[in-house]
Amino acid sequence: MTEEFGMKKNLAHYGDAGFSVFLRKAFIKAMGYTDNALDRPIIGIVDTSSGYNACHQNVPDIIEAVSRGVMLSGGIPIPFPVISIQESFSHPTSMYLRNLMAMDTEEMIRAQPMDAVVLIGGCDKTVPALLMGAISANIPAIMIVTGPMLAGSWKGERLGACTDCRRFWARYRAGDIGEADIQAVNNELAPTVGTCSVMGTASTMALATEAMGFMLPGAASIPAVYAERRRLAERTGVRAVAIAAEKLTPDQIVTPQSITNALRVVLAAGGSTNALIHLTAVAGRAGIKIDLEGFDAMGRETPVLVDLKPTGQGYMEDLHKAGGLTPILRELRPLLHLDCLTVSGLTLGEEIDRAPEAFKQDVVKPVLDPVYPSGAMAVLRGNLAPGGAVIKQAAADQGLLQHTGPAVVFENLKDLSDRIDDPNLDVTANSVLVLKNAGPTGAPGMPEAGYLPIPKKLAQKGVKDMVRISDARMSGTAFGTIVLHVTPETAQGGPLGLVQTGDMIRLDTKARTLDVLLSADELERRRQNARVPQPQNYRGYKRLYTNEVMQADGGCDFRSFVPELTASAPVGVSEPKEG
Ligand code: FES
Repeated sequence: MTEEFGMKKNLAHYGDAGFSVFLRKAFIKAMGYTDNALDRPIIGIVDTSSGYNACHQNVPDIIEAVSRGVMLSGGIPIPFPVISIQESFSHPTSMYLRNLMAMDTEEMIRAQPMDAVVLIGGCDKTVPALLMGAISANIPAIMIVTGPMLAGSWKGERLGACTDCRRFWARYRAGDIGEADIQAVNNELAPTVGTCSVMGTASTMALATEAMGFMLPGAASIPAVYAERRRLAERTGVRAVAIAAEKLTPDQIVTPQSITNALRVVLAAGGSTNALIHLTAVAGRAGIKIDLEGFDAMGRETPVLVDLKPTGQGYMEDLHKAGGLTPILRELRPLLHLDCLTVSGLTLGEEIDRAPEAFKQDVVKPVLDPVYPSGAMAVLRGNLAPGGAVIKQAAADQGLLQHTGPAVVFENLKDLSDRIDDPNLDVTANSVLVLKNAGPTGAPGMPEAGYLPIPKKLAQKGVKDMVRISDARMSGTAFGTIVLHVTPETAQGGPLGLVQTGDMIRLDTKARTLDVLLSADELERRRQNARVPQPQNYRGYKRLYTNEVMQADGGCDFRSFVPELTASAPVGVSEPKEG
């Protein structure tokens, strides 16, 4: 039996396949299609545009260019919507919605006729959500991101979302700049459409996705408003028709080796801690487990090379002008799995070989003269985080990476906002700020609240960084000595919930440990006396989310959407060396 393609795929059931096709064609012809068009391979194009999403405002232009490429190659492009998620327009948090978008993507790919699908993502959660859905649906798929925005300028200083959003807001809180200045800065932080211009989660996931082989070369860094992005979109459409014919499915692209390459690039880029959660979820959909100790070992042998904020100085347009992902891959070449197949049909090694010649630039540093000598992140364990925690050491005050201090505890997000600026708060620069109940189920949705603000009275005295610990996440654009993703989370009985104000906490990043200096007996006594959280009777999606969501070490994916994990990444990593 020959396999059906185009309009005959994924038929609605009426008990008569011929009638199903007949009916389908009758309806789509109402939009002016001819039989000639409807006899061609169909390339679905995921439309993630929304009036709330400036990061995706160029999606209609990209769809037009992808469609041109599809038609140049003899296919028929059919855009279709899925939900769109923008970070600052997502209550309670975009992470709460990521899995909903993955479900939407997977089911609409399965429900409608298409021989391949073009995924258009960009803003932080959209890229992992689209990848998760497409990997689960496992039809030929190719991604293109919307691309980064350009940097802005204020009084001669370059700035961009969102490292500078936080930097200037901290200056405003400290009384360093006034109302007129903060308003002027607000006008310049996002001067064009596109994704955040620093090495935040969107940029990190774009580079990781290209390194994984899911996008054509160059796709990660071309600015959103450049004509070059439209030309790349046209080529993506051309390639989409080819992968439909080749039956190049995501399971051939997403392997332990390609996930290892993606993790390697995240570390070398000084990438967002969120990428670890998202890549765990993406790999999970392909049956691959991320081994945190292996990831940490990679960090010890992978220096930060990319000089972009928040770890360095530049913006994504600078990385693009420096050659985009290619110079990063060239530097990392001895550490990469070069034989991974990419969506272009070539291996990663072949793509590096055929990339434009290297030229002198100073955004991607050589391995021997890096921005930061080891990887951006370190994985911590200890009596506070038996399931692991992560710190972006490259973006921290280096003097605080080994630190012991008394805890100042906030029970939840409301308690934090009520008391952080209280002039009577008993806190010094030596204190360790602890936020509880901000994890995957606690908040819910694991908000980017891990970047606890410096208490105003300390900020006004010039304190710029303190050790901060939570079960929350942090924006990839933020900086500071911030321990995140403490697992298990407070709301699931994690030991972070047992910490009380005044307890001494020791962070030893070099030894990879995070401990509260209490005896096991005292911790057990507190555990016995702890209030047992009552199960909540939520309705709808919140019930699904609360019942299904896994912890950070499971990528915060929904339990029943993940197949058995039969492989693990990273692979081929050297034995850990002394940090
Ligand atoms: Fe969309 Fe930063 S808010 S990429």
